[in-house]
Amino acid sequence: AQTDKELLYKIHEIANDFYQNQLFKTEEGKSIGLSYFKERELRNDTIEKFQLGYSPENKHAFTDFAIDKAYKKEILEKSGLSIFPENAPKGIDRFRGRVLFPIHSFSGRVLGFGGRILNNNLKTAKYLNSPETDIYHKSDVLYGLNQSKQAISKYNLCLLVEGYMDVVSLHQNGIENVVASSGTALSINQIKLIKRLTENVTILFDGDAAGIKASFRSIDLLLSQGMNIRVLLFPDGEDPDSFARKNPQDFVRNFIEKEAKDFIDFKAEVLLKEAIADPVKKAEAIRDIVKSVAFVQNALKQEVYLKEVAKKFEISEQTLFNELGIQKQIKQ
Ligand code: CTP
Ligand code: MN
Ligand code: MN
Ligand code: MN
Ligand code: MN
Repeated sequence: AQTDKELLYKIHEIANDFYQNQLFKTEEGKSIGLSYFKERELRNDTIEKFQLGYSPENKHAFTDFAIDKAYKKEILEKSGLSIFPENAPKGIDRFRGRVLFPIHSFSGRVLGFGGRILNNNLKTAKYLNSPETDIYHKSDVLYGLNQSKQAISKYNLCLLVEGYMDVVSLHQNGIENVVASSGTALSINQIKLIKRLTENVTILFDGDAAGIKASFRSIDLLLSQGMNIRVLLFPDGEDPDSFARKNPQDFVRNFIEKEAKDFIDFKAEVLLKEAIADPVKKAEAIRDIVKSVAFVQNALKQEVYLKEVAKKFEISEQTLFNELGIQKQIKQ
C-alpha cells in the first residue's frame, strides 16, 4: 500500500496539473488568471517554467475532481488542499479565485502552493499558503530553489528575496540564482539548503520597514551559519520584481553588484541615517554592529570585520574587542 506521504506527493502532482490546466485551458482561467499574469508582464515560457496555475472561484472544483479520481476525504484534508468544515461536509477547496505558485522541493516535487488574490482588495490576505503538512514544512523549503540551484552553483552566489514574484521576475529577466523564504522568517534549515550550493548570499529585500527588520534578523542568522553576506534594499515602494521589470538584465546585475554593501556599511547606513552627529545614537549603532560581528564564525574574518568597524567609526580596536567580548558573553 502507498504510504500517506507518497499519496500526499501524488495528490499535489495531480493538483498541480489541474491548476495549470485551469489557467491555460478554461475560459475563467484565461480571462482572469492568465490575464492577471499578463498584466504583470509574465511570458508564457516563464509561467510554464514555474508551473503557475489558477484555482477557479467554484468552491468545489478541485475537491470534486480529486474525489472523482478516488482520493479519500482523509488524504485531501491532510494535504491542506481541501477543507471540511462542519457546515460543508462535502469539502471545499482551500484555494479559490487565486493565481497559484507551486512550491517545489530541492528535487522538484510539489509540496504545497502559495496563492495570490487577483485584485488588491485588502479584506483577505494577499497571499494564502498551504498549511504545514506531512510533506510541507515551510521553514525547510526555499521557493525557487529547484529552478535556481544550477545558477546558484555556477555564480557561487545566492540572491535572497522576499516573494514569489521576485523570484519569477528575476528569472524572466535572466537572473536565475535567486530564492525566497516566502511567507516565513528565514530559518537555519533554509540557510543549510543554500550552503550546499554556496556560502555567498546577497540579501535583496523590500525597502520598507518590514524589509529592513527582516534584513537585520537575517544578517545575524546567516553570519551564525558561516555565510558571507551582502545586503541591498530597494528604494521604498520597489522590490526586485518591480525593479527587474523596469530595467534590462545587465543593468540589474550591475546594480546588485555595485550597490550591495557588506553588513557593516549596510547597518551603519540604516542606523545612522540622520543621527551621525548624535554621540549616543552613534554609540548605540556601533554596539549593534559589533553584536552582528559577534555572530561571525571564523576568528580571522571576525577580526577583519572588527578592524573595519574601528576604521569606519574611528574607535580604537581595543575598545571594540572589549565590546565584542561582552556581546559574546551575552550570547552564551
Ligand atoms: N506573504 C505571505 N502572506 C501574506 C503576505 C506576504 O505569505 N499575506 C509572503 C509571500 O511569499 C510574498 C512575500 O511574503 O511573496 C513578500 O510579501 P510582499 O512584499 O508583501 O508581497 P510581494 O511578493 O511583493 O507581492 P506582489 O508583488 O504579488 O504584490
Ligand atoms: Mn514586502
Ligand atoms: Mn511585489
Ligand atoms: Mn514585495
Ligand atoms: Mn565596508
